[in-house]
Amino acid sequence: MKFFIDTADVKEIREAHELGVVDGVTTNPSLIAKSGRKFEEVIKEITAIVDGPISAEVISLDHDGMIKEAKKLAKLHKNIVIKLPMTPEGLKATKTLSDMGIKTNVTLIFTPMQALLAAKAGATYVSPFVGRLDDISQDGMGIIEEIRTIFDNYGYTAEIIVASVRNPVHVLNSALIGADVATIPYSVIMQLAKHPLTDAGIKKFLEDWEKVPK
Ligand code: E4P
Repeated sequence: MKFFIDTADVKEIREAHELGVVDGVTTNPSLIAKSGRKFEEVIKEITAIVDGPISAEVISLDHDGMIKEAKKLAKLHKNIVIKLPMTPEGLKATKTLSDMGIKTNVTLIFTPMQALLAAKAGATYVSPFVGRLDDISQDGMGIIEEIRTIFDNYGYTAEIIVASVRNPVHVLNSALIGADVATIPYSVIMQLAKHPLTDAGIKKFLEDWEKVPK
């Protein structure tokens, strides 16, 4: 299973990358705004840290505008994946980019049928948002299970990125279901590494080590 980090904070990306667990990066306009930095400058810096798929999102809502932005972004680095919204125009742009050999990540997916449409249009990745569904009392992980089944039924190769991850249990369930990727905030990656018994065990080992004759 691949782990992407879901942030535009270069410091967080660098730190998580040093742990050896980061296979790629996803960003979105809100995360770029949070970084307080220029879009292309941040994306370029990220490509120098992580040698894996880096999702950069277009903001145009029409096909032609999306393609124009996508071409510009794709030129920044070979690892750039164009993130497109799950709309009819986004699907058209996914098809165009897929025909051009440019990788795509269709984002803001909230139903298995949206994921199926994106896969049919040639998406490289589909991003269902589990946390935002949980937030409105719907079963976020349930749609991941359904998308996995549908893609496996018909042999779709689009990779499922579990997005809008809020906690370690989302990541555990992503792995159990067989999602291809989870894109995870830095804080949740750090939570995954932690266990109170690990900390207690280290403390006890160090205390006992003091009793070893020197
Ligand atoms: C995924 O690609 C999105 O950037 C992200 O997971 C959205 O998460 P949020 O719902 O926490 O904003």
